[in-house]
Amino acid sequence: MCGIFGYCNYWIEKTRGEILNTLVEGLERLEYRGYDSTGIAIDSSLLIKQIGKVDSLKKEINKINLDLNDIFVSHVGIAHTRWATHGQPKKINCHPQSSDPDNNEFIIVHNGIITNFRDLKTFLIQKGYNKFQSETDSECIAILFKYIYDNNIQNGIKLKFNDLTKLVLLELEGSYGLLCRSIHYHNEIIATRKGSPLLIGVKSNKNLKMDFIDVEFPDDLKDQDDILSDVESYILPDKNQNHNETLSSYSFPNNKETPSTFTHNTQNLINDNLLPIAANEFNLRHSQSRAFLSEDGFPAPIEFFLSSDASSVIKHTKKVLFLEDDDIAHIYDGELHIHRSRREVGASMTRSIQTLEMELAQIMKGPYKHFMQKEIYEQPESTLNTMRGRIDFDSNNVLLGGLTAWLPAIRRARRLIMIACGTSYHSCLATRAIFEELSEIPVSIELASDFLDRKSPVFRDDICVFVSQSGETADTMLALNYCLERGALTVGIVNTVGSSLSRATHCGVHINAGPEIGVASTKAYTSQYIALVMFALSLSDDRVSKQKRRGEIIQGLKLIPGQIKAVLNLEPRIKELCDHQLKNQRSLLLLGRGYQFASALEGALKIKEISYMHSEGVLAGELKHGVLALVDENLPIIAFGTRDSLFPKVVSSIEQVTARKGHPIIICNEGDEVWTKKAEGSDLITLEVPQTVDCLQGLLNIIPLQLMSYWLAVNKGIDVDFPRNLAKSVTVE
Ligand code: F6R
Repeated sequence: MCGIFGYCNYWIEKTRGEILNTLVEGLERLEYRGYDSTGIAIDSSLLIKQIGKVDSLKKEINKINLDLNDIFVSHVGIAHTRWATHGQPKKINCHPQSSDPDNNEFIIVHNGIITNFRDLKTFLIQKGYNKFQSETDSECIAILFKYIYDNNIQNGIKLKFNDLTKLVLLELEGSYGLLCRSIHYHNEIIATRKGSPLLIGVKSNKNLKMDFIDVEFPDDLKDQDDILSDVESYILPDKNQNHNETLSSYSFPNNKETPSTFTHNTQNLINDNLLPIAANEFNLRHSQSRAFLSEDGFPAPIEFFLSSDASSVIKHTKKVLFLEDDDIAHIYDGELHIHRSRREVGASMTRSIQTLEMELAQIMKGPYKHFMQKEIYEQPESTLNTMRGRIDFDSNNVLLGGLTAWLPAIRRARRLIMIACGTSYHSCLATRAIFEELSEIPVSIELASDFLDRKSPVFRDDICVFVSQSGETADTMLALNYCLERGALTVGIVNTVGSSLSRATHCGVHINAGPEIGVASTKAYTSQYIALVMFALSLSDDRVSKQKRRGEIIQGLKLIPGQIKAVLNLEPRIKELCDHQLKNQRSLLLLGRGYQFASALEGALKIKEISYMHSEGVLAGELKHGVLALVDENLPIIAFGTRDSLFPKVVSSIEQVTARKGHPIIICNEGDEVWTKKAEGSDLITLEVPQTVDCLQGLLNIIPLQLMSYWLAVNKGIDVDFPRNLAKSVTVE
């Protein structure tokens, strides 16, 4: 959901062409996060923007007469690929957004949503800062930078870039991953985040102190209210004068008695033109940092790659630092400094430089036409990677290192709540029954947004399991914060290492599916499914009564990668169905029951999001309660008729369909005579998949649907990796 990318080089010669290439390539890797429009800011204030994908931006760049051979020893460039939230995909709404169209004094790229942007805009216009060009919420950030900067200059103070940023952030409500550069801070860049991912890749040909960066705090740790009162007491040196009145407006951010029409607590600072004093005091006490230097203490030739996503950095370096919420990274003169926009007791004092395990090949398409196709075909390996080193198939033992210490607490839970969105939610649905069976803990599953809308009660003895491929989905993150605030133990089942969710949960499992770039989730689903089954197996490893069942499932898991490979061989059959029976159809029903209800919902989601064909997953038992009215000889129906304890009931549902002249396509087990006999001399079509343990069958049954959605979309000429209106990683509510 919007991708941001920044590049800076210091003490290392780069031509304009090389810098542009780096930025454009960075955007190409991020394109799956949003592809409505793109833009780039280079040189001191040149902005290039274009509607559509990165290819259109490249064409626009080629039209401009730029000397690509000009050399820069130091340079800062920023770039953005957008998924529109506020304002249509028009050129004026593309990022980078600037503070003023004439000089582009402050230029930002932003991912997230500024919820108080209307208040800020009104305020800035009142103050004469009225050159708003766009319909975006982001533009007010750039203009706010300029307003606060100007205000201080008028008072004879040039703030440091990080201090200026701190004052800007005090006014922002909502979420942001943000890069800012300015003609007033030559070759400096600011990167800051709150609720939206941001990381910094570091590359140098010199040995650097690459372990961690200190975020230094003063000895006398104070909480937020103390800090605010410190700032305020400096503003009002005579503590007796108006002290209480002013303090109350700081201590209670949305105090209704605050005289301003603006909701934010620090608005008085702006109104009273007291920013310079506040900034100095704030800086002095609360924003010290340590530089990032080469071992010999001299400036090193160095490059920084700032991005919302590791996949755009991996080509250049594996050394990355993940920013935390409220961090302000300030890069200048080849040094990286981390400051905090706010302080809280117990905040981590260091940011470690981590080594990415991702390989470049993992984020390339290789011989495949689309990432989605590649990821579907990766599943024999990705599912194996989820289990690798965690299951001992000889002794039927499962060891999930990230959970071991927490298992006794989890076993004591009075209930377990699984919370996720979209496909990740379906993996919870697919595994709920086996979780309850093995753990004997009641499990409820929740769509994150609905869970929050209901403000569902959560207690200290609840275990809340959050499942997310990206680890950045806003709804899931908000639900996580909600549960953390209520003291629940939180577990993350996450694909993206270093993501917000994996860092904020108490414990968890990385599903190790490798980077998933196709917007439609495929391999993450099967790996989440397996990770959740392994979780349930770990919870029951001390229960004698469950050992037989556990053994059966573990041996079943061992065969899954090979069986997925076998199901992939169905591709030509499925392609043929898409070319003929399913061609030009407008709607599709998917019937499933028990374990296969999740397959029906997930299959329907895949089909609608990629091929734009209306499809609906229906619980087979519900058919007669209404949906049957839709059935006739024309409506295509896919039914999951693989063997489990509910098989007779599924057969009966399918008979209800055929009695109404429906011609279902049945996903059944290889050689199942019930279906082969029914297919003889009738229009019934079967797609045969290997049989596995009931609770694992969904891992195999979903593969034909992934392939079907892929081919339905390809046949319609849809760009599978870029379905309209969607983006990978939904970081806004
Ligand atoms: C569908 C799809 C989405 C995601 C959902 C949650 O193919 O990809 O439904 O599953 O947006 O995303 P994560 O798992 O990143 O939290």
